[in-house]
Amino acid sequence: MSLSKALEAFDTLTTRKGRGNDYLGWLDLPTDNNRPEQDAMKKIAAEWKLKAQVVVVIGIGGTYLGSKTALEALLHPFANELALNQGPKILFAGQNLSQDYMAELMDLLEEKEYAAIVISKSGTTTEPAIAFRIIKNHLETKYGKEEAATRVIAVTDKSRGALKEVASKEGYRTFVIPDDVGGRYSVLTPVGLLPMAVAGVNIDSMIQGAAKMREICMERSGNNIAIQYAALRNLLYGKGKTIEILVNFNPKLQYFAEWWKQLFGESEGKEGKGIFPASVNFTSDLHSMGQYIQEGERIMFETVLDVKHPAREYSVGNDPADVDGLNFLAGMEVEQVNKKARAGTKLAHIDGGVPNILLEAERLDAFNLGALFYFFEFACGVSAYMLGINPFDQPGVEDYKQNMFALLGKPGYEELAEKLKERL
Ligand code: PA5
Repeated sequence: MSLSKALEAFDTLTTRKGRGNDYLGWLDLPTDNNRPEQDAMKKIAAEWKLKAQVVVVIGIGGTYLGSKTALEALLHPFANELALNQGPKILFAGQNLSQDYMAELMDLLEEKEYAAIVISKSGTTTEPAIAFRIIKNHLETKYGKEEAATRVIAVTDKSRGALKEVASKEGYRTFVIPDDVGGRYSVLTPVGLLPMAVAGVNIDSMIQGAAKMREICMERSGNNIAIQYAALRNLLYGKGKTIEILVNFNPKLQYFAEWWKQLFGESEGKEGKGIFPASVNFTSDLHSMGQYIQEGERIMFETVLDVKHPAREYSVGNDPADVDGLNFLAGMEVEQVNKKARAGTKLAHIDGGVPNILLEAERLDAFNLGALFYFFEFACGVSAYMLGINPFDQPGVEDYKQNMFALLGKPGYEELAEKLKERL
């Protein structure tokens, strides 16, 4: 039943006849293969490698999580300490409203040679707009207006919006966020690819991985893994499993889960429907969330995102004293221990009434990450159409913004401000 429903939803998505079908540009991004744009990104990466120790990426939500995910997954976490020459260090701004975070970031930027990528489709999203205002000012004071303009790239709408206007006025180089690609589906546009290129990620390989996965996802068949995943989620949801936990056993995937939560949360959580997307990092969180998953309310299922082959080798050593009793593991790779932890956890959680879906990637590299991005985007489109909702809008995100503007005293929001103040 769920499978035939998933095939119907697949048809809705691929014939482009469903709700929100003006936001389906992401479906073809891996095969659009915009070489001049990719070359321009690599050129900027080469240029900034010579003059920036740090590149600040300014964005939030869909303009932040994709690149953050890729950098966490693919770069050496201690590259700076080891002075590995992978490219400038990428830091983020505009993804929160913390004054302390901003002040501490500015402490660093005061000391370092830096450049900035500001990403916003509308140009009016408060968090990145405030961060950009501060950083623009600082860049101009530090380098002078002319040099500062060479150190800012704007990724924004092709013709409209406040950021486009500033970019034209200041002479910034720009990249376009396509009209038909929403924020949470934009990782394979310059929104995600430019910061990745600047950080030294192989973006060609990432696009190839996504293209390979596109071929798999486009096949109308019960063997299509994206259709199977969407069908399974829907089946479990129908059985009262209203929370999906994305599980990893590799801390490099922590931000992948944050990207995934936005994708599914914003796409499905509307009209009183949708599975609540949650995440855990195992084995760390087995020591904090494991108890609840094993014995708490039986409302969740797990989707384990497994990486089959680690990039590096490391074994447990031998200790003649064997005080910790671990010599039975001597010579075993740490990954083998991790694998047994995975198997043991899976069985324990299934015994505890938590269904388990397993998704496996061969390894964690740009190619496979590109494939994973595309896989989940596609599965999310199918899954949301199975719920009968529009996967590509996010009307609920506006409510807090309206309230915040009113409470901040933004002109035009006076009436709402009065109403809200009565309630505070
Ligand atoms: O997915 C989305 O649409 C959002 O997360 C947006 O990307 C985010 O709010 C930033 O919006 P904008 O690009 O207009 O600054």
